[in-house]
Amino acid sequence: MNAPRPSAPHLRWWLILSAHMALITLLMAGSLSLFSCSAKESRMSLFLYNEADPYIREFAKQILAASPQDAMPRKFDAGNSQLIQNEQIEAELTRNPASQRPALMMINPVDRLGAYALIQRLKGDDIPVIFFNREPLAEDMGLWDKTFYVGARAEQSGQLQAQLVMELFGGSPDKLNEYDRNGDGVIQSIILKGEQGHQDAEIRTREVLRSFEDAGFRVEVLALEIANWNRDEAYGTMGNLLRDYRHRVELIVSNNDAMALGAISRMRQEGLYRDTNGNGRIDRNDSGWIPVVGIDGLREAEESIAEGYLYGTVKNDSQSMATAMVELAGVLLGTIDPATLSYALTDGRYIWIDYRPFVSER
Ligand code: GAL
Repeated sequence: MNAPRPSAPHLRWWLILSAHMALITLLMAGSLSLFSCSAKESRMSLFLYNEADPYIREFAKQILAASPQDAMPRKFDAGNSQLIQNEQIEAELTRNPASQRPALMMINPVDRLGAYALIQRLKGDDIPVIFFNREPLAEDMGLWDKTFYVGARAEQSGQLQAQLVMELFGGSPDKLNEYDRNGDGVIQSIILKGEQGHQDAEIRTREVLRSFEDAGFRVEVLALEIANWNRDEAYGTMGNLLRDYRHRVELIVSNNDAMALGAISRMRQEGLYRDTNGNGRIDRNDSGWIPVVGIDGLREAEESIAEGYLYGTVKNDSQSMATAMVELAGVLLGTIDPATLSYALTDGRYIWIDYRPFVSER
């Protein structure tokens, strides 16, 4: 038996119905592509040791800015707890539905020694990992060939910091200029150190002192204090140090900008950095100006340099590191041709970005 042919009014309804069906199909296709888009979005997860750290905050912004719109990493802040970070990573690895699980992780570990367990775990699930800022031990990096590190060589930052100081003091160790305030041929210094055990804190401290020594500059370390990369801690520590060394200190070397800025705030509060030459601004010719040198190149540090307080810094180029990480991620996920990678891969797993000195001209 033939199906009854639609009569004229039925035909109209049938046409409207078909149009609706077509619309629904289109909408479904649209939502499917939206879905595949969000599946794509979830392909990278980014784990930060502590977003309260201003350098890491700037770094994370750069990573998001360098990431393609349709592949934004999901970001997690461990608030300086390895336990929390482990939980965050585990939650991502077991996320449901499985299509939402990351295909790659970018990890700024809280404890770089914790990388061993993380690498073993990720190897089990075959998730490539790019570590950054806190470098795992070389033997841990060697556990699996899908483990990478993007960072800078801490030695270089210590050396550049020493160069900035040597230039300021006149460049020749036997003839220090007016910044050797007591004229004894020795630079009386305070060192503010970052977190104990962190590769940057250990190596920067060692290397800045070694560079002075190698160049024949005599430096007396009045005090070496740990302030954990932290501005407030440095502010507090500096209060005690000024009580003891206010009239002797000729240089403050800080492992990073945040601590340098904390030290400067304290020194300002204690009445140092005054416009003694009356030219309407703070500068190196004011008596009582004490050189402070940092590392990182935070925006706030650049402002402090422009205002005449901070003498200089060494840029820890998070913008280039972020670009390198995102490009490398693209290569590992198969969306970027490896031949187009703009940064050299050393030993098959490291990308090294150069530090750069930064001072004001006056
Ligand atoms: C260093 C940086 C410090 C701090 C630390 C955190 O590279 O200079 O300011 O952010 O990393 O791991």
